[in-house]
Amino acid sequence: MSGLSDHSIKNLPQHLAIIMDGNGRWAKKKGFLRSIGHKNGVDALRNIATASAELGIKYLTVYAFSTENWSRPQSEVKALMTLLVSSLKKELKTLMKNNIRLSAIGDISLLPTKCRRELLEVMETTKRNQRMTLSLALSYSSRVEMVQCMKKIGQKLIEGEIKISDIDEAHIENNLFTFGMPDPDLLIRTGGEQRVSNYLLWQIAYCELYFSDKLWPEFDKEDLIHALQDYNNRERRFGKTSEQLHEEETNG
Ligand code: FPP
Repeated sequence: MSGLSDHSIKNLPQHLAIIMDGNGRWAKKKGFLRSIGHKNGVDALRNIATASAELGIKYLTVYAFSTENWSRPQSEVKALMTLLVSSLKKELKTLMKNNIRLSAIGDISLLPTKCRRELLEVMETTKRNQRMTLSLALSYSSRVEMVQCMKKIGQKLIEGEIKISDIDEAHIENNLFTFGMPDPDLLIRTGGEQRVSNYLLWQIAYCELYFSDKLWPEFDKEDLIHALQDYNNRERRFGKTSEQLHEEETNG
């Protein structure tokens, strides 16, 4: 009962976030270069994005390159940027065929010009696709995102555009990279580590966490379905009691 036709997943996350960890270890295990691990990571991403769209997930946000990743060996950074350009070129077909819109969060001004140009072009070409939004977190750090948000709000305060009393949660959300997206309902991290690594820290306040020991290139549709089934069995209380939730359900 692991096929996509399995309808036991009643409550799908509207927004799924993923930390795709383990490319390097997968490559090492196989005796390959780390860059081969990342290349296989792209294959896994294509499979998971397609399966997510088919299942009915509306937003998929994946951690492709963190701000901290800029300090990896320059050869690896270069290989990742080259892979990004070639993948964007190659995957446009898949995105169009599956009606997926590509988006990006992070400080994309730091990407090499060629990457930025290719990314913006694919974002433009796919902007009317409606089945799912796939967001690549690129040069992304949640703390940097929050600092930028505070600066934007501070500037508006200085310029008298807003008052202190205008600042509420919605106002902050409107100034994050994820503006306009619902918060993630489920965060999956592969690769066996159990941490959130500066990813979507504001947005995951009530998110369910799921950790898989599989290395990212090995994570497939069946693993995704297991994670979704696990999510489906959780009770999300958002600070309320179980009884309150059942009462709300009964009263419609
Ligand atoms: C973590 O594995 C993964 C990354 C830092 C990059 C993830 C990128 C992809 C799946 C490819 C798509 C993205 C681009 C930019 C083309 P790791 O290298 O930290 O693995 P390790 O923990 O085993 O060393």
